[in-house]
Amino acid sequence: MRGGHLADRRALITGAGSGLGAAIAGVFAREGARLVLVDRNDTGLTQVAGKLGDAVSHTICADLSDASVCDKIVQEAVATFGGLDILVNNAAILHFALSPDVTPEMWDKTLAVNLSAPFHLIRSALPHLLAACGNVVNIASSGAIIGTAYTTAYSTAKAGLIHMTKCLAMEYARQPIRINAVAPGAMRTNIGTDLSIPDAADRDLMARYSGLRPAVDPIEVAELVAFVASPRGSAVHGACLSVDGGVTAG
Ligand SMILES: NC(=O)c1ccc[n+]([C@@H]2O[C@H](COP(=O)([O-])OP(=O)(O)OC[C@H]3O[C@@H](n4cnc5c(N)ncnc54)[C@H](O)[C@@H]3O)[C@@H](O)[C@H]2O)c1
Repeated sequence: MRGGHLADRRALITGAGSGLGAAIAGVFAREGARLVLVDRNDTGLTQVAGKLGDAVSHTICADLSDASVCDKIVQEAVATFGGLDILVNNAAILHFALSPDVTPEMWDKTLAVNLSAPFHLIRSALPHLLAACGNVVNIASSGAIIGTAYTTAYSTAKAGLIHMTKCLAMEYARQPIRINAVAPGAMRTNIGTDLSIPDAADRDLMARYSGLRPAVDPIEVAELVAFVASPRGSAVHGACLSVDGGVTAG
């Protein structure tokens, strides 16, 4: 028996090969969880798993933009653990673009990874999470709460993720499962590394929602995700909790 607030909880975390997903995996491991980690980036996955040692039971390199992999991922996690207590939908992609430049392919891929994959993973995981009185944490964004220019596909998908969280929370209100979202503000992670801001973008406009405070540390978000996923969060259901330094306050 491992100690901690997530002692021996069995968790499936997507996008765990870098940034916030890696931070969530680290905090979950410290709190005693057993982990199956998913990412399309095999190198990142291997590095994170190497750091976390025997807390990581299995890694899965998969591209979540393909809906057909979602059920296989859940079945692989359940086969590894013999059940499932926690699903963290963290993987996402982001492009900055003026809306006329958003191609149908960019739109479809963003919605596939950021919105459809979380739903397909939840749908496959539901029977196992219900059996374990488990829970889901969906990683949303401050961009889902306030309108943010040049991220329409990303922010629309994230807003859908928050509403999906609330709809499922109501559908399962009388059953032993909790479904929540956590909405971070800007963090310095790989999602921003290759981002190019369009030349025609209005930077003064973007500064309005860039935050009055420093960027959020992924560890701070991971600590809240671990709280919500643990028995300490037992009254939290259908919520979207912001960790954004106040950027959505007004
Ligand atoms: N960084 C920020 O400023 C910020 C702000 C708000 C919300 N978020 C959210 O935090 C979460 C984590 O992002 P991050 O900032 O750590 O970025 P990140 O790029 O470091 O991590 C995202 C991970 O998801 C993986 N991924 C992306 N597409 C995938 C796919 N198709 N299949 C499998 N894996 C895939 C990437 O390989 C990467 O490891 C995301 O949901 C993001 O929307 C980030």
